[in-house]
Amino acid sequence: MGQVMVSRRLVSLHKARLSGLSLRTAVAHHALGSIPAQYSTVPDFDHTKAFRDLGIEDTNHGVFHGKWGGSGKVVQSVNPASNEPLAHVVTGNSSDLNQAIENASKAQKIWRDLPIPKRGQVLLAMRQELHKHLDALGTLVSLEMGKIKAEGVGEVQEYIDILDYALGLSRCLNGLLIPSERPGHVMLETWNPLGLVGVISAFNFPVAVYGWNSAIGLLTGNAMLWKPAPSTPLCSIAVTKILERVLAENNLPPALCSLVTGGGSIGRSITENKRIDLVSFTGSTPVGREVGKIVQGRFGKHLLELGGNNAIIVMDDADQDMAVRAILFAAVGTAGQRCTTTRRLFVHSNIYDSVVDKLRQAYMQVKIGNPLHSGVLCGPLHSRAAVQAYERGIQAVQDQGGRILYGGKVLDRNDGEIYGKGNYVMPTLTEVKPDMDIVKEEIFAPILHTMKINTLDEAISHNNSVGQGLSSSLFTANIASIFKWIGPSGSDCGIINVNIPTNGAEIGGAFGGEKETGGGRESGSDAWKQYCRRGTCTINYSKTLPLAQGIDFS
Ligand code: UN1
Repeated sequence: MGQVMVSRRLVSLHKARLSGLSLRTAVAHHALGSIPAQYSTVPDFDHTKAFRDLGIEDTNHGVFHGKWGGSGKVVQSVNPASNEPLAHVVTGNSSDLNQAIENASKAQKIWRDLPIPKRGQVLLAMRQELHKHLDALGTLVSLEMGKIKAEGVGEVQEYIDILDYALGLSRCLNGLLIPSERPGHVMLETWNPLGLVGVISAFNFPVAVYGWNSAIGLLTGNAMLWKPAPSTPLCSIAVTKILERVLAENNLPPALCSLVTGGGSIGRSITENKRIDLVSFTGSTPVGREVGKIVQGRFGKHLLELGGNNAIIVMDDADQDMAVRAILFAAVGTAGQRCTTTRRLFVHSNIYDSVVDKLRQAYMQVKIGNPLHSGVLCGPLHSRAAVQAYERGIQAVQDQGGRILYGGKVLDRNDGEIYGKGNYVMPTLTEVKPDMDIVKEEIFAPILHTMKINTLDEAISHNNSVGQGLSSSLFTANIASIFKWIGPSGSDCGIINVNIPTNGAEIGGAFGGEKETGGGRESGSDAWKQYCRRGTCTINYSKTLPLAQGIDFS
């Protein structure tokens, strides 16, 4: 059926060409007025095998602090592909949280005294256990979050990768030896654990974000306390069960990886609680701004991973086909719900029409449907609220004078039965101007704003003109452009790519962004330092007491 629809479209494009309409107008007209469904009837996915593998029941304890429990509200985890419940979870209340803080802190006192390479061995065991459940966990991510299975498995792989990385790091967390100006003195730096790390993670990466934080947080000697997004509790329960087993097998207190599921009030208590030394928060800029203020108010440490409004620039010397493939993954992958999703596209005016037409052809081929079904590239949005945000965004584009080039439609039962149940929208291309308000906003949906540019300087200035500063990418074959882009007059983002998408970062680099993205860095490079307190130690091994700066105080 998909093929039939696509070829019907091509026929109508061909007719439009013959009738003298420009290709762009024809496609826009077609996309706006037609039934967009490339894919419709889908059998229900049987998730019992994955649930059995991961120990997920019909009703689950949503708190773990060495023991499983929960005395808060009972909530439903809902499948975004159908809005039907997957399972129930008994969430935590404030006394569960206090117990978790207490038990995790106690566990940390044992863990922190383990030599770092020994900690690395425990992380290796976690890696092996996760790997055994890679497929089931990837399936659960897909079921509960709504991303396609390949991306669900990919995100568990990211967790496995960071555990590999942490194992390597366990043999090379080297410090500094600093020359002292005083005779018989030596200066050095120590990096000790902070204590308890609270991780508040978002729905869009319900496994990997905790993975990056916990792998590095544990390696550096901390205990972990996880509060997942309220809508993805099952993923966190499944991961915590795996970690619990590994810790118990290694004779370590499993409360080291504690979990409290729940809503905003649990999150707020974590940010306010002085016993939580570092709060690592992933989520929206407005919430992150509050988290930052509260944690700073008590002089705790925070690691903020907030909104992105990422751009791709395509210069006229770029490989257009490669750029189009990258843009498709960056803008449509995860149904536009990565913080690294490309939301703005600046294309050199010489090739704008050609790139946009190629993109539109590519968008037409995207199968939208059940994320567990093979061949589907675009699953549902995570929630009904996200669909409303998408609709508001489409309306705002039109109100502000922009045009919808492709998509712009919420799929409903008239487009196919599955669409009536789930939160499906059409990936959308718009044509806008860089100064429109809508271009400054992060709408967590697959809406890509396209704009023309004439020079690299102009494109860089647009790239840098928004509040957010997470990811950015330049497509070019010009070496001078590349070095300008990564230099002081280039992109102001934390992630600065060339000839690859804005999303899909590897774990080896530091992950995070500037400005309203919050400034935090997770994952690779020296991000491990964020989970440590730094000690500058000066040791006098002589029999005299010379003072620095030559001061004589006798
Ligand atoms: C996020 O969307 O919160 O670079 C993180 C990427 C992934 C991480 C995304 N490795 O797209």
